[in-house]
Amino acid sequence: MSKLTQVLTDEHQNILKVISAIKKECQAIESGQSIDNDFFTTAIDFIRNYADKFHHAKEEDILFKAMCDDSVTLHCNPIDQMLHEHDLGRDFVKNLEIGLEENNRDKVLANARGYAYLLEDHIFKEDNILYPLASDVLSPAIQNQLANEFLTAEKEKFQSGAKEKYLSVVRSFETRGL
Ligand SMILES: [Fe+2]
Ligand SMILES: [Fe+2]
Repeated sequence: MSKLTQVLTDEHQNILKVISAIKKECQAIESGQSIDNDFFTTAIDFIRNYADKFHHAKEEDILFKAMCDDSVTLHCNPIDQMLHEHDLGRDFVKNLEIGLEENNRDKVLANARGYAYLLEDHIFKEDNILYPLASDVLSPAIQNQLANEFLTAEKEKFQSGAKEKYLSVVRSFETRGL
């Protein structure tokens, strides 16, 4: 795997850990536990900032754009589907938030699980189809350039310390056995 896609795959691992925590929390709610608003507030903040702003922005603004460049030949272009899934994820999170405000258990469960399953499937497709395709069709020089753009985007969009904050969220969920 190239350095470029390794960065994104590593980020997927952190997102998957939070998704695993969300699924366990849903299981607990189904077993009778009341909704833990603090847990979901932390999880939504992670999704919006780390998964969306930090990770999806690298895909949408940098990698996908490069793969859609006229100089790149793709026989089958999966980018539109990937973008559509990012949007579906955002809708699930919006509706999860509404479910929490309404203290609506069914809405919380449906949207939290909807997001979890969507993203698991999405990440599987990117790790196994899209990223290998990117490694194939983008020249090593372009891949290096994009890796540098990732670093610049991180600095522009994320205050210093923000990345560490979200990695500590992942660790805190793990420590709590989530
Ligand atoms: Fe994605
Ligand atoms: Fe991704």
